[in-house]
Amino acid sequence: MDNMITRRRFVGMSAATGAAILAGGKIAGSTVRAGLALISPGAATDPAFKIGGDLEVNRLGFGAMRITGEGIWGWPPDRANALKVLKRAVELGVNLIDTADAYGPETSELLIAEALHPYPKGLIIATKGGLTRPGPGNWVPNGHADYLKGCVDKSLKRLRLDRIDLYQLHTVDPKVPMEESLGALKEMQSAGKIRHVGLSNVSPEQIARARKVLPIVSVQNRYNLGDRKSEKAIDYCEKENLGFLPWFPVGGGRSVKSAALDAVSKAHGVTVYQVALAWLLQRSPVMLPIPGTSNIQHLEDNVAAAKLKLTPEEWKTLAG
Ligand SMILES: NC(=O)c1ccc[n+]([C@@H]2O[C@H](COP(=O)([O-])OP(=O)(O)OC[C@H]3O[C@@H](n4cnc5c(N)ncnc54)[C@H](OP(=O)(O)O)[C@@H]3O)[C@@H](O)[C@H]2O)c1
Repeated sequence: MDNMITRRRFVGMSAATGAAILAGGKIAGSTVRAGLALISPGAATDPAFKIGGDLEVNRLGFGAMRITGEGIWGWPPDRANALKVLKRAVELGVNLIDTADAYGPETSELLIAEALHPYPKGLIIATKGGLTRPGPGNWVPNGHADYLKGCVDKSLKRLRLDRIDLYQLHTVDPKVPMEESLGALKEMQSAGKIRHVGLSNVSPEQIARARKVLPIVSVQNRYNLGDRKSEKAIDYCEKENLGFLPWFPVGGGRSVKSAALDAVSKAHGVTVYQVALAWLLQRSPVMLPIPGTSNIQHLEDNVAAAKLKLTPEEWKTLAG
């Protein structure tokens, strides 16, 4: 417990202190690192990661899908609260925010700009395109080149940016060769509208194929304690030093459950969600979890998890 910040202690801290925790800075004379045990081959001890070799982010990010309306549709019921959540995330030291044109659609990007523009130095907004939204809870791929180019322009406008730091292809459209979709993003990159390109919902084979078209810096797949189908994709990313953004990192607040998780969280006096996030961070140094929430308390809990240290035994027991 001594090298760990509990939620109660963390919540009372200033924004600068929160940022220092995420960055592994110094607090009250003692170095505060993410304190992560050396378990996976990657020895995930560094609290920061450089996306594409030049965009340094604290590894615990924020997913901005949950600040929209029901079914990831429209405006949130409490818009002022959504703006507060975004501002608080940045105050706490989060400098990687994941979003997509499809969240709302449009409302997530618009809220980010409303809450945070002009953006603080070093804040990385990672958005996505390639999924259309015919209605609430409905997601349909469109990877056609012209459509994607239009998506980039519209995201730039909504986010009030000249260039998007990380633009991710939301999914590979089975009806469109990925070379066409990625060719469009390459064009937008050459035009200076995108800094780096990432992928989402892909296999290692698809990552390798995409890298023949253009440099890829990150992958975003579903991954959490209870759903580990993407192990090979993580191994690939770790080997190639690509960032891996696990979506659904706390299982949507419901599906990550086990007796082991209960026991470990009880032992540390923290929530199961914090343990689930600490476990992810210790899985690989390229792991960049982006938990989503519309609740300030949950946000503070999630950020505090970057400081939680699991023992190698705990990590292995949780891995099952
Ligand atoms: N690439 C893709 O295809 C894809 C797909 C889905 C999501 N994503 C991205 O990944 C991000 C995360 O995924 P996600 O939002 O689906 O899953 P998640 O982060 O695992 O779960 C979010 C849900 O868990 C609850 N929650 C979060 N932290 C909590 C805590 N500390 N205590 C209790 N409940 C908590 C939230 O409810 P409250 O609001 O009540 O806290 C929310 O409903 C998204 O925001 C989005 O940016 C990408």
